[in-house]
Amino acid sequence: MTDIRYDFGSGRSDPETFPTEALKQAAVTVLDREGLEFTRYPGNLGHAGLRKVMAQRESDREGVPVNPDHLILCNGSMQAVTLTAEALQEAHGDTVIVEEFCYPGTLSAYRNLKLDMVGIQLDEGGMKMDHLESELRRLQGENRLPKFIYAISTYQNPTGFVMPRARRLEMINLARRFGVPIVEDNCYGDVHYEGPIEPAIYALDDDPNHLYLCSLSKILAPGMRLGYILARPPMLERVLARRHDAGSNTFAAAVVAEFYRNGISAHAAIANPVLQEKRDLTTRMLGETLDDICVWSNPVGGLFLWVRFPDDVDRGMLWKSAQAAGVNYIPGAAFHYRGNNAPYLRLAFGHLTREQIRAGVPILARCLKEARGSNEARNFDTLFD
Ligand SMILES: Cc1ncc(COP(=O)(O)O)c(C=O)c1O
Repeated sequence: MTDIRYDFGSGRSDPETFPTEALKQAAVTVLDREGLEFTRYPGNLGHAGLRKVMAQRESDREGVPVNPDHLILCNGSMQAVTLTAEALQEAHGDTVIVEEFCYPGTLSAYRNLKLDMVGIQLDEGGMKMDHLESELRRLQGENRLPKFIYAISTYQNPTGFVMPRARRLEMINLARRFGVPIVEDNCYGDVHYEGPIEPAIYALDDDPNHLYLCSLSKILAPGMRLGYILARPPMLERVLARRHDAGSNTFAAAVVAEFYRNGISAHAAIANPVLQEKRDLTTRMLGETLDDICVWSNPVGGLFLWVRFPDDVDRGMLWKSAQAAGVNYIPGAAFHYRGNNAPYLRLAFGHLTREQIRAGVPILARCLKEARGSNEARNFDTLFD
């Protein structure tokens, strides 16, 4: 096993800003106040206090009322990804729409459910609507309209791009025209650095068939394993019918509800600027070492940079030499809905120290250059052709 010293792999919040002391206090408070609750099974919706706080979080961000009784707490938002797919799936082989490059956890869950994924091309505004429309029309002609559209429309994983409001409205219109629900994954919605916040789909459209997923992993810590689904009845009951685990961790939920009792913004105001600074450092290092052969995204939120490199990079060689040099990243193929070996890689920057970023990016740059078949300058200026 190689010693990975520069792990640009997994998307995590910054350990520096993890609020250990405040959580310790919160744990003592909730044990004193509601200790007996933890001797019971949580139930399908989960801890009422955290549902209330998260409903407020959504309502504050989106400016629309959110009913805490329409919010289902889950074991991370990954469970939400699976539960919502199970609720909307009718049979093996059902079609679903995903972004051409998408979160690998979702791709793996959908593959496991034997869903047939159709990927929609991306640009700097997320899914391209002309492609979505033509694929919906094609699938309708083949009598296999998708069961849902899965979209990470804000700080998309892996590209970091945000779908603008106008395009969200177009997607809503297409979904309505073809009668297909949208599963909106807003895992990174509050990891926001700069610029306007685009509205969530559920705030733009009250179609009761749309589903919304969010997480506590990226604003606090993935070890809490807390995420949730927003679903309006009767879709709420349809999702709950798939659940067989007696609910999610009430103790973690109670501690986090206490920690966030006045909302999420105070901690976000501490955590996000640190992440933003690391984004800036990572892009600066990329600029100093790879500007001649690569382009990358400059996301206004989220935890990732999406890097495009020349076609003549031997991807197997790059992986081996980067690992041997102690650098981890996620290759483009892991995000492609069909596993295509695309000339991209994703860098997560949130949990690395500044020193690791400063030292790791130049090593990756050297590995990329050594894995090339030529010395030619790059012949592209954008992430997507
Ligand atoms: C888009 C997206 N959805 C869902 C998840 C699952 O996160 P968690 O289960 O930690 O909430 C991730 C994790 O990286 C993600 O990127």
